[in-house]
Amino acid sequence: MAEATVGGSAETIEASELAEIGLRFEVDGEIATITLDRPEKRNAQTFATWAALARIGDNLPGQVRIVVIEGEGPSFSAGIDLRMFTPDGVPGQGSFASNGQRDDESLGQTIAKAQRGFLWLRRPDIVSIAAVQGHAIGAGFQLALACDLRILADDAKFCMKEPALGLVPDLTGTKPLVELVGLPRAIELCLTARTVDAKEAYDLRLGELVVPRGELRQAVRDLAGALLATERGAATATKRLLQGAGQRSLEEQSAAERQEQIARLKIMSARS
Ligand code: ACO
Repeated sequence: MAEATVGGSAETIEASELAEIGLRFEVDGEIATITLDRPEKRNAQTFATWAALARIGDNLPGQVRIVVIEGEGPSFSAGIDLRMFTPDGVPGQGSFASNGQRDDESLGQTIAKAQRGFLWLRRPDIVSIAAVQGHAIGAGFQLALACDLRILADDAKFCMKEPALGLVPDLTGTKPLVELVGLPRAIELCLTARTVDAKEAYDLRLGELVVPRGELRQAVRDLAGALLATERGAATATKRLLQGAGQRSLEEQSAAERQEQIARLKIMSARS
C-alpha cells in the first residue's frame, strides 16, 4: 500500500489519528480502501468516524477511482456506538442524551456534519464498493447503502435498527433503500427492524454478488479491476447520466445523453 495518510496538503489525517478513531485508509494506485478497524467493538461508529470519513472524501487523492469500504473482524459494522446514547457519551465526543437541550439548528448541523461522511461516496468520478460481512446494523447498513455497489459475504446480515430505538435512519440511507427495494419493502424492513440475511439481501437487490466469506476481498478486487478497465472520463460521464435518470423524463434524459456524448466526442476528436 502506497499511502497511510489522507491527502498531501494541509488537511492531512495521520494514520495514527485514524487508528485512534478506529479507521484505516490505504491507497494502492487507483484504489482506496477505508477499513472500519474496531473489531472488538464490532466497528461501531461515532461522530469522529463520520468526521474522518468526510475528511477522507474531501482529500481523496486525485488518482483514486475506486473506494472500497470494508470492516475488520466478524462484523462490517454494528452501527452507531451505543455509548452515544448514554449520559457520558463517547469521551471527547458528547452524547445524544443531552441533545434535548440543544436548539433545532444546532442539532440539524450536527446531523448534516455526520451525513457529509456518507454523501461523497456517490461522487460520479469514483465508484464506491462496500464489502459486507457479518452484521451491518443501523449506521452500518446505511454506510453500505451509501456506496454505489455492495458485495456480500454469505454471512452478511442487514438490519435497520433505528426505528426500534425510537429514531429514524438519518445517515442518508432512506433514499437508496427505497430505490433498491421499493417503498413497501423499505417500510416493512425499517418498521420491523428485522434482520435480512445475505440470500434475501441479494434477492432484494441490496447486494450485487454474494460470495463465501473467505472470498470477499478477492471478489471486491476482481470487481475493482473490471471497473478500472473503462476509461475514466467515460465512466464518470456515464455514472452521472445514470444517477440523474430517475429524476428526469425520457425527453430530459435523452437530452442529457446528447449533452454528455457531445462532450465525449469532442474529447475523442481532440485526441485523434
Ligand atoms: N456500540 C458499542 N459497542 C458495541 C456495539 C455498538 N453498536 N455493538 C457491539 N458492541 C460491543 C459490545 O458491547 C461488546 O463489547 P465488550 O466485549 O466490551 O462487552 C463487543 O462489541 C462485542 O459485542 P458482542 O455483542 O459480544 O458481539 P456479537 O458478535 O455476539 O454480536 C452484534 C454482534 C449482533 C452486532 C451485537 O453486538 C449487537 O447487537 N450490537 C448492537 C447493535 C445496535 O443496536 N446498533 C445500533 C443500531 S442504530 C444506529 O446505528 C443509528
